[in-house]
Amino acid sequence: MLLGMYLTTACGGQGALPIERGRSRDLSTRPPGAASGRSQAGTTAGGIASTGHTPSPERAPSDDRPAAVQALGGAKVHADGQAPPAPPTSAQSVRPGINDKYFAPGAADAWARVFEGPKREVARHREAIVRALALTPGMVVADLGAGSGLFTRLLSDAVGEEGKVYALDIVPSFVERIGKQVSEAGLRNVQAVLGAERTTGLPANSVDLGFLCNVYHHLEYPDSYLGSIRETLRPGGTLVVIDFERIPNVSSAWVLGHVRAGKGVVSEEIRRAGFELVREHAGLLKENYMMIWRAPAR
Ligand SMILES: C[S@@+](CC[C@H](N)C(=O)[O-])C[C@H]1O[C@@H](n2cnc3c(N)ncnc32)[C@H](O)[C@@H]1O
Repeated sequence: MLLGMYLTTACGGQGALPIERGRSRDLSTRPPGAASGRSQAGTTAGGIASTGHTPSPERAPSDDRPAAVQALGGAKVHADGQAPPAPPTSAQSVRPGINDKYFAPGAADAWARVFEGPKREVARHREAIVRALALTPGMVVADLGAGSGLFTRLLSDAVGEEGKVYALDIVPSFVERIGKQVSEAGLRNVQAVLGAERTTGLPANSVDLGFLCNVYHHLEYPDSYLGSIRETLRPGGTLVVIDFERIPNVSSAWVLGHVRAGKGVVSEEIRRAGFELVREHAGLLKENYMMIWRAPAR
């Protein structure tokens, strides 16, 4: 049976550093397992104490209309009502501060209640989502932005003892929480990893499938991060992106305010990073889309 636990920082052993709230730096891209790139199980993120406060939920309305690209009046406009954006530059955050709330004291337990609560469509359908990934034993999966570890156990079971799951997040208390759960459950094939905002920090060409569930709209540097995912994936590897449908005049005020871009813009950014759309997995989710992309063969 699977035993033991790993907690690693993809930031080169910086897990015990004071946290720069919500503005975590790209400290290093040292891969897990590299010399002095490991921290021990139970590494603290500093000053985490439960407040009992429950944050507002990550939620969305019910809508599954496709966001096809339309040509209107000669100008290319997405069905999500947004003109194609200028390519985001690595130097600028496209959504400054969107992750700040996760760095608050007590955030790990409080947000876990939200992430795993029944109001979230992806939480209700997590088993079907993992089945749709069609994972096979021995695969290496990166759960990028793993949050509370909603998918960790399911991914671990799907890839089996010969496989591996990187459960990665930029919030130290989230990573620590997953590490504890992994240890208690004896999941030897899971590695909890502290990542950085612009890079995964995972070894190049090491991952078969990267999984972003409700994470894309939290990426402050999507172009840099997509480039890093591309390097992390094996040639021809798979990137699965699940995120909220964002449709003006249809989506809730919360989605319109919280989610930076709809499916059309997101697709354009992913395509620009060199990925090729394999297919959209329709029919499973309504409030979210699920897209499957292929990394370049290189
Ligand atoms: C809405 S939560 C989703 C968590 C989880 N994927 C789920 O569906 O339950 C978004 C997560 O993305 C993480 N995140 C934001 N930017 C990130 C980045 N550049 N790399 C890794 N994780 C990131 C946040 O810390 C947060 O845990």
